[in-house]
Amino acid sequence: MSAPLNDPLKNISRIDLASLPTPVYKLNNLSSELGKEIYVKRDDLTGVETSGNKVRKLEFAVADALKNNADVLITCGGIQSNHCRATAAVAARLGLKSHLLLRIDDTPPVEGNYLLDKILGADITFVSRPDYSNRRTEIMEGIAEGYKEKGLNAYIIPEGASNGIGNFGYINAVKEAVSQEKELHIDFDAYVCAVGSGGTFTGLLLGTKFYAPDKKVIGFTVCDDRSYFADIAIKTGNDTLDLIGHKDIRVKDEDINIIDGYMGIGYAVSTDDELKFIRDAARKDGVIFDPVYTGKAFRGLYNEIKKGNIREDKILFFHTGGLYGLFPKQDQLAWIV
Ligand SMILES: Cc1ncc(COP(=O)(O)O)c(C=O)c1O
Repeated sequence: MSAPLNDPLKNISRIDLASLPTPVYKLNNLSSELGKEIYVKRDDLTGVETSGNKVRKLEFAVADALKNNADVLITCGGIQSNHCRATAAVAARLGLKSHLLLRIDDTPPVEGNYLLDKILGADITFVSRPDYSNRRTEIMEGIAEGYKEKGLNAYIIPEGASNGIGNFGYINAVKEAVSQEKELHIDFDAYVCAVGSGGTFTGLLLGTKFYAPDKKVIGFTVCDDRSYFADIAIKTGNDTLDLIGHKDIRVKDEDINIIDGYMGIGYAVSTDDELKFIRDAARKDGVIFDPVYTGKAFRGLYNEIKKGNIREDKILFFHTGGLYGLFPKQDQLAWIV
């Protein structure tokens, strides 16, 4: 067994935003069905307005924004982005403005996270899919420039806060989980999560390097693919390590256990089978996964276990939130439930 390294969070600024620690407990029925010990870490319970994984990353990103005297937080995501909603909530709580760049195809109905963004008072700029893919950083910089002309200091948080600073959120989550494992007298073999912009996976991977070097981290993609996220994990993971002066440790391609094949027909689009899976899991163990991230990732875990591809027996699945994403799918869900 390799020895844990020094605490990577020692000199990193963080502000308290999430309700932590989040609960960890066993999914009894799914565990019996699959012949494994499957536990869930309820990171969907980090708050109401700030629920989900993003607030863990924002604890570090917004600490950096405040150090830089920010008046406005600018960030981006899809129309139903959980990260954008959490950023709008955090900004309102701290007396800052928020400005969201939201990707749309058509004029969106005011529902789900987008409704919450509006309730929270975020300024919103819509952007088309191609502009979002090719020019989102440039567009956010333009928005920041506009604030500067009004005498306001804007801080840009990249998509999903998945950068060198945001990664600290899930390093901290590993520290928390490892101490819960001691209380629960369990030592998980693997941590499992959804991969949407990469920061949760990368943070977990870095966190295990420091606090639990014998654990495996497994991610399931809900958009793009393994090779795209391997690049992100290597780039941003090494940025994080540079920030804490750990040039001696590197994230390498061989560290990246990311599994493709469970995105279905597209990002944020659900098949009836995926929604039925969410319904069945809810009925078996009383836990509701979301349709965009955790439902697809947990379905991936379930299917890969059934196929015999997961050797690890004691598994902790990070439920990273997204409940509000179910509501815009109520028409599709109506006949399934
Ligand atoms: C609910 C939820 N789960 C998982 C993810 C994926 O996390 P990450 O963006 O860190 O890969 C996201 C965001 O993308 C999310 O909103």
